[in-house]
Amino acid sequence: MTPTATAPTTAGSPGAADGAHLAARAEHLSKAYGVGEATVTALDDVSVGLDRGRFTAIMGPSGSGKSTLLHLLAGLDRPSSGTVHLGDTEITSLRDKALTILRRDRIGFIFQSFNLLPTMTAAENIVLPMRIAGRRPDPHWVASIVETIGLTDRLGHRPSELSGGQQQRVAAARALASRPDIVFADEPTGALDSRSGTELLKFLRSAVDDLGQTVVMVTHDPGAACYADRVIFLADGHVVDEMSEPSAEGVLDHMKRLGG
Ligand SMILES: Nc1ncnc2c1ncn2[C@@H]1O[C@H](COP(=O)(O)OP(=O)(O)OP(=O)(O)O)[C@@H](O)[C@H]1O
Ligand SMILES: [Mg+2]
Repeated sequence: MTPTATAPTTAGSPGAADGAHLAARAEHLSKAYGVGEATVTALDDVSVGLDRGRFTAIMGPSGSGKSTLLHLLAGLDRPSSGTVHLGDTEITSLRDKALTILRRDRIGFIFQSFNLLPTMTAAENIVLPMRIAGRRPDPHWVASIVETIGLTDRLGHRPSELSGGQQQRVAAARALASRPDIVFADEPTGALDSRSGTELLKFLRSAVDDLGQTVVMVTHDPGAACYADRVIFLADGHVVDEMSEPSAEGVLDHMKRLGG
């Protein structure tokens, strides 16, 4: 493991010329919350490219801007300046309605809390966003997700009849059901015990390796980050470092240097 040099301001060199292999890219992205003296700069001139068909982890100390970056990349929030492209689409200039549709059709999001509908079964939860959108789920695709995630015998259960780990796997299957261009996950293992967390991470890994998906995950856990192909480190709203083929030891070492 050879850590890259410290303090590059860009990660993944998201130049326009080589953008074809990128599922998404941020250019000079900044986000400030509040006004006047109360302004908090959550993200400060971040440029990052996210490779298609790869698993990227985002790490950094609490408050470093990880969730803010994920929300901006996923079109859940608007930047103060800078742009986000999803493939060839600049999502930052879309109107609200177009952005909502793009998010629904092309982006999956897994939250720390599972956000399942309690009155519906696992199977119904998985395809609900597509049903709301009036789209017909591809049964083969959904079946392959359900099989990969090991939920086949739980599909008729309601969330209250499932463990936290099983509920999060249902949420992950829901995020993948529309075969999105990219799946974002904000601390998806944060509420899980370590065994359930490992199962979810293995699923995200096989979603990339076996199903060809693109996954971007925020995590505090160096062990979780090791499931990724690449780790991007944030500190104080900046990209400060990155690492390919991460090892837990290497990630821990970086985190220590960042004070996280
Ligand atoms: N809606 C908001 N209003 C005001 N400030 C915010 C808001 N959301 C985030 N911030 C601030 O922006 C900074 C970055 O927050 P963010 O949630 O992106 O950090 P994070 O890296 O995800 O942290 P954690 O690891 O604790 O989840 C923090 O200083 C935070 O307090
Ligand atoms: Mg966060």
